[in-house]
Parts: sequence; structure tokens; C-alpha cells
Amino acid sequence: MQIIHHIAQLRQLIAEHKSAGKSIGFVPTMGNLHQGHLQLVELASAQADIIVCSIFVNPLQFGEGEDFAEYPRTLDADAAQLRQIDCDILFAPAVSDIYPESSNGGRDQMQVIVPPELADILEGAARPGHFTGVATIVTKLFNMVQPDKAIFGAKDYQQLQVIYKLVKDLCLPIEIIAHPIVRESTGLAMSSRNAYLSDSQKQQAIALFKTLKSLATQLKNNTTKLKVCDYSQLEQDAIKQLDAQGFKTDYLCIRARNLALPTDDDKELVILVTAYLGTTRLLDNLQVSRVCKQ
Ligand code: PAF
Repeated sequence: MQIIHHIAQLRQLIAEHKSAGKSIGFVPTMGNLHQGHLQLVELASAQADIIVCSIFVNPLQFGEGEDFAEYPRTLDADAAQLRQIDCDILFAPAVSDIYPESSNGGRDQMQVIVPPELADILEGAARPGHFTGVATIVTKLFNMVQPDKAIFGAKDYQQLQVIYKLVKDLCLPIEIIAHPIVRESTGLAMSSRNAYLSDSQKQQAIALFKTLKSLATQLKNNTTKLKVCDYSQLEQDAIKQLDAQGFKTDYLCIRARNLALPTDDDKELVILVTAYLGTTRLLDNLQVSRVCKQ
């Protein structure tokens, strides 16, 4: 595996691989890799010839007072893990390479990618500017890596929807592939931010997935009786349960798969939740199919 820090070197390598007729698979990350990331790389390697994984903690997608400074940076350990699997290029640029004309990590840079309305709700409402940061860095990385396929985890469900739309709207010739959420044996969705949790908080955090599962069961078991007008009560009850277990729930909602408010006809739903445990913000979701019983 080659470790590349500069854009020019990366471009040269990619050009060589492309002229040899190789396809490029890409896994963008912010590092502190866990099994979830490694599975994205493994999926990429089943889909393309040359696999690039990027590690870049993108200042532009963090808001004021968020955890940009604390975000775990573990490049050596990450590189060691990637060497064990089928990764060909680790691209780990510096902030000054990505935002060369900015003195504050891109926050003052002129040209950004403004994502559509889909990015203003849920995570976008809770973290204003977050998806502008994500859409901008993902577009920049796509320009550098020029992948044929890019793999994203389904844990960041809204991010995935924003990226599908970005690629479509900007006519980027890249296939976006979603990888299902990778969970600990306890059900806790794997995340680099889990590193902030104490052992007892990790135990507490299991309640998040349990709550999603219980809601999904209620939605599935009541296919004929439950109507959209009942969803808000289900959401409120679930939030109450989580908060009683020590969470501070940011939002918990039942949406159509495209994140629109569901209608009674929507059978393919997703339940999204974001909650604080102490100062750690945890994110999870569960897709549900409400197939009507005959
Ligand atoms: O999901 C992430 O880790 C980040 O948002 C991404 C896509 C690497 C952009 O910085």
C-alpha cells in the first residue's frame, strides 16, 4: 500500500492506473478506522481494481463548538489496518493541501458546494453548514481520486442521500454504493465517536438500537392499523424512553426512504435517531418495510 500526502502525487498515480485500464474504487473516511470502515474497503475491493482510501478530518463540516479538535487522529494505526486488507493507496492530505487559500480550514473559502433542501432538515438543521462541508469535500475528493465507484456507510443515512443527489445533479460519472451499518455484537452502530464513550456509556448506548428495533416491530406488526397520524405519538414515546435512560435525544423520526414526511401509502420507511450520551452525539437508523398483511 502506498501512502500519499500530496494531490499531485495522487493524480499521477491515478493517471497511471487509469491508463493501464484499471478501475478505481474509493472509500472516503475521516480516519480512526474501525471494522465498519474496513468492511467498506473490502466491498470496494470486490467492485474495482485499485482501491483508494482517504483519511481527512474535514474542518469545513464541523460547526463552532463541535469536536473538530478532539476528533481522534490515528494515522499510523489506520495505515497498519489498511495494510492488512486490500487497500492500494492511502491518501492522507493536510488541511493546507485541501484548502490552500484558506486560513481557517476552508470556512472562508469562496467556492463551496451548496447541497439541496434535503440537506436542511434533520442533521442539516441540527448542524447548520454540515452538509455544505460534506458535499464540498466529497466533490473535491472525487475530483482528485476520479473513482469509478465510491462506497459510503449507511449509518450516515442522510449523508448518503445527499451524496446520491450530488452525483446525480452534478452529472458525476461515479457509482455510489451503500454498505449496511456495521454493528458491535451489542447492536451499537460502529462509529469513530464511540471512542469518546466510557465503558458504562457503551452499555447505555445499546438502548439506541433497541429502541429503533422496538419501533420497527411496532410499525411492522400494525401494518393494517397504524396510520401516519400515529407516527408522531410513536416518535414521542420513543424519545421519552430514551431520555429516561439517560440520553438527550436530538431527534427521532419516522420518514420515507427519501427522507420526506411519510404518507399512508409509504411502505418503505427509515427511522432516524440522534441522541447525546454525555457530550457524545450518537447517530443511528433502521430501515423498515411495512409490507401489508393480506
Ligand atoms: O462520513 C464521513 O466520514 C465523512 O463525512 C466523509 C464522507 C469522509 C467526508 O468528510
